[in-house]
Amino acid sequence: MKIDGTPYRSVWVDEQDGWSVHIIDQTKLPWSLDLLRLSDVSAAAHAIRSMQVRGAPLIGAVAAYGLALALRADASDAAMERDAEMLNATRPTAVNLRWALDRMLAKLRPLPTQARIAAAYAEAKLIADEDAAQCEAIGTNGAPLIAEIAKRTQRRVNILTHCNAGWLATVDWGTALAPIYKAHDAGIDVHVWVDETRPRNQGAFLTAYELGKHGVAHTVIADNAGGHLMQHGEVDLCIVGTDRVTRTGDVANKIGTYLKALAAHDNRVPFWIGLPSSTIDWTISDGVHEIPIEERAATEVTTITGRALDGSIATVRVVPTSSDAANPAFDVTPARLVTGLITERGRCPATAEGLLSLFPERAA
Ligand code: MRU
Repeated sequence: MKIDGTPYRSVWVDEQDGWSVHIIDQTKLPWSLDLLRLSDVSAAAHAIRSMQVRGAPLIGAVAAYGLALALRADASDAAMERDAEMLNATRPTAVNLRWALDRMLAKLRPLPTQARIAAAYAEAKLIADEDAAQCEAIGTNGAPLIAEIAKRTQRRVNILTHCNAGWLATVDWGTALAPIYKAHDAGIDVHVWVDETRPRNQGAFLTAYELGKHGVAHTVIADNAGGHLMQHGEVDLCIVGTDRVTRTGDVANKIGTYLKALAAHDNRVPFWIGLPSSTIDWTISDGVHEIPIEERAATEVTTITGRALDGSIATVRVVPTSSDAANPAFDVTPARLVTGLITERGRCPATAEGLLSLFPERAA
């Protein structure tokens, strides 16, 4: 997608040297567009852990490139397994990380060490290109939901989203935002309610940034405003992304998603999830008890960062110094609260049968 007219992906290999990996430092957005060059596996691991890159599909793609960087230093079996494990330990909830590393290892393990580096870059590129294509397909498969509301109501369509599940969270296009971009590009009048998404403000910082750069009408709201807006008919549908979906359709996503799903259910507002198949964990069926939920630092809750009136970026404490804070980073929305899943293969109910209807090869 474009930033000020220039097309970007969220991760790419340096065209000149052919091996170093570039990312957009998302901890600096929206205040400045800083590009970072990753030249070894520790830098890739740090980028994921510190959330310079974040969002389930992007984490997977950067981990894949991180393993390619690791092999440049040591392509032996022992080092490859160790570095893959180190990358896998950077964040626990998004299953795309394990998925991408497993796919890399399956490709690389049978190869002699001297063939591994080139093969790793080729596989990482495939993972990245496939993610971009799958996300675009999610857009194509989800946009008719928006078009149908526009046709029925003959007015602007209001969509609520949580966290950032746009192109910055994937390699390109996004998951939840891809149908919105497709609908907008097709001339449908859309407006997005952007949950700020405390504590890290991915909505206020990243979703607002990328929607603004693409010219999509949007309004940032406090996380607690969604239920009120739904009660007053101000939300036609919700679309969010996800970090892990069970084979039965339970959905882990950024903390606060569950509360939005409850409010949507109470107000009969459709609640859709956009996801590539790399986000489905076919090994589990009980999301609430089986999906590991990341606990992040209390300082993300006790402080907030923003631009001061003098233009400087400042971090300030917003909680009494004597108070402690807890920071579970994700929650699980049970499948019964989800209207349906939008994948690269089409839409389906959030059920085991629904998922298998799109991915029959998983029945075995
Ligand atoms: O902690 P984050 O910012 O990595 O969390 C990201 C989300 O929860 C996204 O909604 C999810 O990864 C879907 S991304 C397309």
